[in-house]
Amino acid sequence: MDGASILPVLALCLSPGDRVLDLCSAPGGKALVALQTFLPDIIVCNDSSLSRLNRLRRIFKDYLFDFENGNKWRERVFISHVNGVGYEDREGFDKVLVDVPCTTDRVSVTEDENNIFRPDRIKERLKIPELQSQLLVNALKLVRPGGAVVYSTCTLSPIQNDGVVHMALKQAFEMHGILATIRDMSKCFACLSSTLRLGRDAAAPRYGQLVMPHVSANFGPAYFSRLIRTNAMQLDLTQYRPRHEYGDVERREWFAPVAALGVGDRRRPRA
Ligand SMILES: C[S@@+](CC[C@H](N)C(=O)[O-])C[C@H]1O[C@@H](n2cnc3c(N)ncnc32)[C@H](O)[C@@H]1O
Repeated sequence: MDGASILPVLALCLSPGDRVLDLCSAPGGKALVALQTFLPDIIVCNDSSLSRLNRLRRIFKDYLFDFENGNKWRERVFISHVNGVGYEDREGFDKVLVDVPCTTDRVSVTEDENNIFRPDRIKERLKIPELQSQLLVNALKLVRPGGAVVYSTCTLSPIQNDGVVHMALKQAFEMHGILATIRDMSKCFACLSSTLRLGRDAAAPRYGQLVMPHVSANFGPAYFSRLIRTNAMQLDLTQYRPRHEYGDVERREWFAPVAALGVGDRRRPRA
């Protein structure tokens, strides 16, 4: 697993007793990291590909002691095979990881076989952001208010990264009345700057963190964004103050619901 792949799991900020959904889970690398923390009470590993879920099972068997026989795991790990866009649940999850299918840039530049940039896969490639957005919208529906969704990709594509987060926030609000805010994690991950090359300045995504491959730090690409679902009632427009009154953290948290509502200027909200 790429060293940067652990970051979306860290961004979930798992707590003891969490009910966790990994919506696009196979082959299970991130779910395995989450399980090895022993924090989640329950983790549902869902994926639309049966062959990849079989790989996930094999990996869990190899890395989790007594996975197939032990009750400890049977009560804790649930494997699900449905399209993540239509995944349904009544209870609500505390944390949802949406590690979406993407153009997987590192694989695309190093392997020819089944390459998503092949001319005959152009239609499939163009549909990727729409699928990613649908998966993220469903994740926002599945997380309980106050819970966190982490959206992640392994591409540098701004459309598949910030673009999808923006589109999904808008759709979640317009179609389902769901509001979410984006948490700025730049300060949390700044300590990794000697190990990983994080996108900064012009290369910094607006809604998340981006690990950029570099000769001196050959990890990634990896993008991840942490969203907290709020109740519609929690959105208080009287708190809408000019940007200069806020630090960067607050501005980013603010921006998402405002964008979802289609209110105000994106770059310079007015009082
Ligand atoms: C980037 S991979 C996930 C990697 C995994 N999270 C890990 O850490 O090992 C994306 C996964 O999304 C799955 N997928 C694609 N379309 C899906 C859909 N509509 N619903 C659920 N899973 C989907 C693919 O089969 C693939 O396993």
